[in-house]
Amino acid sequence: MYADLIDFDTTGKVSADIFHSEETYRRELSTVFARSWLFLAHESQLRAPGDFVTALMGEDPVIVSRQRDGGIRAVLNVCRHRGMRVCRQDSGNTKRFTCSFHGWTYDTAGELVKVPRETEGYHDRLDKKGWSLTPVTRVESYRGMVFGTWDPDAPALIDYLETARPALDSFIDTLGSDIELAGPMKWRIRGNWKMPAEGLGTDGYHAETTHASALQAIGGMAEPSRIFQYSSAAGHAAAMTDLGVTQRMHEKAGVGPSPHGTNDTVTVAHATVFPNFSFIGYSGPLRVWQPRGPEEMEVWGWVAVPAGLDAETRRQKLRGVTVSFSSSGVFECDDSENWSEIAAVGRGFVARSTPLNYQMGMGFDDPAGTDLPGFDVRTGHLFNDIGARGFYTRWAELMDGPELALTPSAPPPGANGRG
Ligand code: FES
Ligand SMILES: [Fe+2]
Repeated sequence: MYADLIDFDTTGKVSADIFHSEETYRRELSTVFARSWLFLAHESQLRAPGDFVTALMGEDPVIVSRQRDGGIRAVLNVCRHRGMRVCRQDSGNTKRFTCSFHGWTYDTAGELVKVPRETEGYHDRLDKKGWSLTPVTRVESYRGMVFGTWDPDAPALIDYLETARPALDSFIDTLGSDIELAGPMKWRIRGNWKMPAEGLGTDGYHAETTHASALQAIGGMAEPSRIFQYSSAAGHAAAMTDLGVTQRMHEKAGVGPSPHGTNDTVTVAHATVFPNFSFIGYSGPLRVWQPRGPEEMEVWGWVAVPAGLDAETRRQKLRGVTVSFSSSGVFECDDSENWSEIAAVGRGFVARSTPLNYQMGMGFDDPAGTDLPGFDVRTGHLFNDIGARGFYTRWAELMDGPELALTPSAPPPGANGRG
């Protein structure tokens, strides 16, 4: 039982092995990633029919595109012929996707519309309708954020996000409601995807040590007593604080003040929507921690900016974010070093068998702080592992639950209609 690898009732321990085990990782793909809602895109990237972006759902690549009827659809980006990646671009606009191996061609809805040498090779008996790209079971949006899930039994997206909405709404509202994404920037680092996911949800504790130099350069950390940690049974986690605190944190980076809200407005500092979608409030970085094995991940990063900014303001804002959060950003480099070192030193038998400490604040989770609705549990202090405990509790529930049941479509006839 994966629930036995965590204990937040008495000891506050988590097995170190969950960050290194290949077996655990494979189960994460068939449970956590196969059964959760995963961030795919922002609608601003898909304005016109035929606009598409490619995304990942766990290790499964997908194409997300705007349909002629205005809907958004996502399909597995794997050719039904020999399994080649069909679309090899990050984004674009098209009517058709043609596989670069043998030329099978699909429309943006994933229907197989053209097969080279169909007459000579398949004697006009290929059931093209039976060989569409595999559709993502459900695709839904919340305030422009597009998510997908393979699980037909998942709750509606709006319900899945219920306890994350204070953080998501605050992220969007602080930027001014109408946002668009710049990016993505993609890079690969060593480390388990859960480390940054829990970290962006809950770990304000590391900042004074990990980012000591960077914080010195920007004049110290915001008042920690005014940051509140939030946790949810759905696995989402966030740190919320007064808008004035985050503004002071970011002004040295050249990110101008937000015209939306007063200094006392409760706003998100950083948050993770379970399982792997994180963001930093006010300055606008978004991250998906794409799993690439138990000790490797691909970081996909965007910056959310108010739509319609003039070019110079937009450039300044992106520059301000990039120097702190990007593949070469000072804060992100500090963070990545930790995640990579954990992967490097934790492979030994003894290291993997030695439990880790998630005790901080245990027993002191309470509704103190603000009246902000949404999260199930909150605490009035920055220094608390409450969000991580919620994250791993939900993680273990899914890991011990059923794998996604794939319902194979009725087997189509063989190549010559004889199969
Ligand atoms: S693998 Fe795509 S056409 Fe052959
Ligand atoms: Fe950090």
